[in-house]
Amino acid sequence: MTATTIATQGQNLAFPDGFVWGAATAAYQIEGAVHEDGRGPSIWDTFSHAPGMVADGHTGDTASDHYHRYKDDVRLMRELGLRAYRFSVAWPRIQPSGSGPANAAGLDFYERLVDELLAADVSPYVTLYHWDLPQVLEDLGGWTNRDTAYRFADYAHAVHERLGDRVGTWMTINEPWVAAFLGYGIGVHAPGRTSPEDAFRASHHLLLAHGLGARALREAGAREIALTLNLAPVVTPGQLNDPELALSAEDAEAVNRVDCLLNRQLLDPALRGEYPAPLLDIVDRIAGLGHIHDGDLDAISQPIDLLGINYYTPCVVQSGPGEPSNPVYPGTEDILFSGAYAPTTAMGWPIVPTGLSQLLARLTRDYPEVGLLVTENGAAFDDVVTGERVHDADRTAFLEGHLRAAHAAIESGTDLRGYLVWSLMDNFEWAEGYHRRFGIVHVDFGTQRRLPKDSALWYRDVIERNGLRRERAKRPTLEAVAARAGVSRSTVSRVINGEDTVSDEFRAIVMNAVNELGYVPNSAARSLVTQRTDSIALIISDSDAKAYGDDPLFSTMVRSAGRALEEAGKHVTLMLADSTKSRLRVEQYVAAGHVDGVILVSAHGADPLPGALARMGVPVVSLGRSSVSAALPYVDVDNVGGATAAVTHLLHRGRRRIATICGPVDMVAAQDRLTGYREALRGTGHRSIVAIGDLTRASGADAMRLLLRDDPALDAVFVADDLMAIGALHALHEAGRRVPEDVAVVGFDDLEAASYTVPPLTTVRTLRADQATAAVRLLLRQIAGGPASSTILPTELIIRKST
Ligand code: FCB
Repeated sequence: MTATTIATQGQNLAFPDGFVWGAATAAYQIEGAVHEDGRGPSIWDTFSHAPGMVADGHTGDTASDHYHRYKDDVRLMRELGLRAYRFSVAWPRIQPSGSGPANAAGLDFYERLVDELLAADVSPYVTLYHWDLPQVLEDLGGWTNRDTAYRFADYAHAVHERLGDRVGTWMTINEPWVAAFLGYGIGVHAPGRTSPEDAFRASHHLLLAHGLGARALREAGAREIALTLNLAPVVTPGQLNDPELALSAEDAEAVNRVDCLLNRQLLDPALRGEYPAPLLDIVDRIAGLGHIHDGDLDAISQPIDLLGINYYTPCVVQSGPGEPSNPVYPGTEDILFSGAYAPTTAMGWPIVPTGLSQLLARLTRDYPEVGLLVTENGAAFDDVVTGERVHDADRTAFLEGHLRAAHAAIESGTDLRGYLVWSLMDNFEWAEGYHRRFGIVHVDFGTQRRLPKDSALWYRDVIERNGLRRERAKRPTLEAVAARAGVSRSTVSRVINGEDTVSDEFRAIVMNAVNELGYVPNSAARSLVTQRTDSIALIISDSDAKAYGDDPLFSTMVRSAGRALEEAGKHVTLMLADSTKSRLRVEQYVAAGHVDGVILVSAHGADPLPGALARMGVPVVSLGRSSVSAALPYVDVDNVGGATAAVTHLLHRGRRRIATICGPVDMVAAQDRLTGYREALRGTGHRSIVAIGDLTRASGADAMRLLLRDDPALDAVFVADDLMAIGALHALHEAGRRVPEDVAVVGFDDLEAASYTVPPLTTVRTLRADQATAAVRLLLRQIAGGPASSTILPTELIIRKST
C-alpha cells in the first residue's frame, strides 16, 4: 500500500485498501474487577489508593466495568465497524506475584475476549504492558531493577502461549518514556517516584524488556511485533506555523536535545541499536552508564514489524537563557518549554494536527525500514449528554483534522498501515481520574451505560467509506437550528435554557432541530436568555502586580476597556487575582454565573487562571495572548512583527552588534518580542546578545550596564519596553556613550515619555486603546452567540533621534 494505490476518489479522501481502522484501550483504565479471578495488585492499584495521587481519589477499582461487560463492548465495536481493537493484558492477572506459572483464570478472560472479537470480525491487537506492573515486582525495585525486563519476557511468552494461535499483532510496551519519566522521574504516575536517575534506568530497562519480549514472541512464532511510543515533533514556536523556518544555533540545539530525550531515546536503540550521543552525555551526567550492559542494545534492537505511534500534541521549546531544567526532561537547563498558539483540549494540550504529518514524514525519512501504525490519537473534551446524544463536535473536528494530516502523509509516501482512536470509551485517565473523557463512546460511570458519541457515528461513516469526505464536517450554529425549526434565535435559546415560556409544540420542534443537527449549545447561547447579568468582569491576573503597576499603557488599556463596556451598557466588575486565594475567589465568582463574560489580562506563562476560565466555557477575551491563549480568544499587538521591524531598522542603520533587553522570560509578550529580535538577526551572521529586565526603569539601567561590561563594542540595543529603554538611556549617558553615535536605542510601546527623552526615543507604537476596544467588541459578539476569534493588531515603528 503506497501512495500510488490511494487516490482522492471523487468526493472522498480515500485511504489505502486494507487500512486498519480501530480503537484502543488499556486494562487498568477500563477493566475494573481488580480482585477477581486471582488478579494481584499492580502499582496503579497502590498509587490510586494512596491519598492525593489521583484527582478526587478516583481509582480503577470499577473503571468502565469492561471485565464484566466485554461482550456488550465488542458488540458496540462491531456496530461501529471497527476492524481492529487494541487492548492491553493486565500482567497482574496473569502473574499475580510477578513471576512463576500463569494464572489460568486470568488468561481465560483474555481468551474469551479474543474469541468474542474474532466472532465479531474485529482483529485483536494485544499490548502486553500498559503500565500496570505487578506490585510485587515494584517492591523488588520495579523498572529500576534489570531483572524486571527478564520477568517481562517470561510473562510475554506465557500470554503468547495461550493466545498466539488467534492473535496476530503483539505490542510489547506502551510508552516507555511516560512510564519512566512520569512514573519514576516526576512521580505523577505510578509508582510515584521522583528521581531523574531512576527514570533513566527505568527507561533503559523498559527498552530491554521490549527487546527480550520481542525476541521471546518471535521465537514463539508471533506474526507481527510492535513497540508503541509516545512521539511528538519537537519544534520552536516559530516552526509551528512554518516548519521550514531556519533556527538560530541556540534554538536548534534546544530542539535537538529535547528530541533526543523524548523521541530518539527510544527510537534509536529500538530501531538502530544505539543511543544518540547528546542523550548519553545527559544520562552519564545524571545516572551514570553502569546500567547499560554490553549486548543490551543488540537485544533491544530486535527487528520489529511495526512502530506504534501515540500522538497527541507537539512539544514546543526554544533556548531560554537562565531557565532551570524541566523536571520531566532532565538535562534541559537553558531550554524554555512553551505552549503552542493553538486551541487546546480539556487536557490543556494544544491541538496541532499538522504535528502528526510532520511526525510521520520524519519517521519515514529517519527510520524507513519499519511500518507505521497510529496506535493512539484522540482528545478529551468536556462532553455534555443532550437527551440520547453526545454532540462532541470538538472531538470529531480533532479526529478529522488528524486523519487529514495522516492522509496527507500517506500521499507523500508514508507507509502508514492504520489508525486507532484513543479511546474506544471513556475511562480512568490515570492521574486525572474520571475527569477527562477521551472516549468516542460515552460511559455513565454511575450506571455504566454506554452511549456512542457523535464522533463515534462519524467514525463509523469514515470506516465504511474507507476515507473522509472532501468537505469538512460542519459545526451547526444557533442560527442553523433557528432556521431549521423556523423560529427566532431567542426562542431556540429559551428552549435550550429550559424556560417555560415556550409552548410544548415549539419546544418539540426546536429540540428536534437541535438533535437532527447535532447542535451543542455553548455557554454563550445558554446565557443569551436566562443567565444574562449584563455584567462583565475585567480581571487582572498577576502574581506580582509590579509588572503592570508602573506601566502607563496598562491603565490606558484598562480605562479603554472599561469605557467601551460601559458604552455597551454593561456593568464592569474589576477584579484582581494577585494571589492563589484571590484567584480562587475570582474563579468561583465567574463559575457562579455572576458575569456574562470576562476580559482578562494575564501576562505570565504559568498563570493557571486562563486555563481555568477556558474550561468553564464562559465567554472570555484575553487582552494580550496568554500562554493557553490556545483555548482563549485574544486581542494582541504584533509583538513579534514589531520587534523584527525594530531590529531590522537597526541593521539598516548599519548596526552590527545589536543586543536586546528583554522582559521577564515567563511573560508571553516578552517571549514574543525576543522571538522577533532573533528572527531579525537570523541569517545576518550577527549573534544575539540578551539581557533580561523586569520592565522597570531601574532594571533597564542595570541590564544596560551589564551589557556594556560584557560587550563594550555594542553599537545598538533593542529594549523590549519603553520604561526599560529610559533606564538604558540613563546608563548609557552615565557611561559616557553617545546616543545614537556610539549606541543606537529602540524601545517598545511608544509611551508619551518616549518623545521627551534625550534624545527622543525611536520606538514601536502599539495601539493599546484600540486593543481594548477590539477585545470588548469580540467579547460582546461571543456573548451574543457569535464565533470566538482572535485578532492581532499591527504595530508601527516611530523613528526619532535615538537611532
Ligand atoms: C497515553 C496513554 C493512554 C491515555 C492517553 C490519553 O499516554 O497511553 O493510556 O492515557 O495517553
